[in-house]
Amino acid sequence: MAIFPPENRVWWNEPLHRPEIIWITVAFLWGLVMFFTMIYWHFSGQQNLSNEAYRIFPEVYAERTEAMAEKYTVRTETNLDIPVVHPKPGTDVYMLARLWEWWPILELEKGQEYRLHLSSLDWQHGFSLQPTNINVQVHPGYEMVMTITPTQAGEFGVVCNEFCGIGHHTMVGKIIVVDK
Ligand code: CUA
Repeated sequence: MAIFPPENRVWWNEPLHRPEIIWITVAFLWGLVMFFTMIYWHFSGQQNLSNEAYRIFPEVYAERTEAMAEKYTVRTETNLDIPVVHPKPGTDVYMLARLWEWWPILELEKGQEYRLHLSSLDWQHGFSLQPTNINVQVHPGYEMVMTITPTQAGEFGVVCNEFCGIGHHTMVGKIIVVDK
């Protein structure tokens, strides 16, 4: 029983048994397989975007997002009047995360290239684009920038996938892709 000290005090000097060394080898090899799968999947999977990360003050990020929204808002949605922003193709588009919303709603054109910026104004959030299963961690103080070209028209949900407190489950945003 574990509450008594082991009879043989120097138990770590025992020779390795065959099943043990087999398990250690299997676990080590499996770790390598998973490690290289991450690299392989970056190139062959379609969910891992190449992103750039830059330091940015949350206030500056908020200013840029608001400036874009002011310039390109085309209408509002829901009873909260969330702006739907339709930026010019080829430009920098911003979406911010904060307790507990993704702001604003972005409307992009299919087949056009954008520089998508993501950052948080407060805590860590997770950007999960549904149903395409694209995931990006979103931190305050850093912005993630991705060059994207939407290939499919429709409405995409943005779900927060990092637990961020009491309103986490309500933190849902939207990206609309229109066919032009
Ligand atoms: Cu934001 Cu969970």
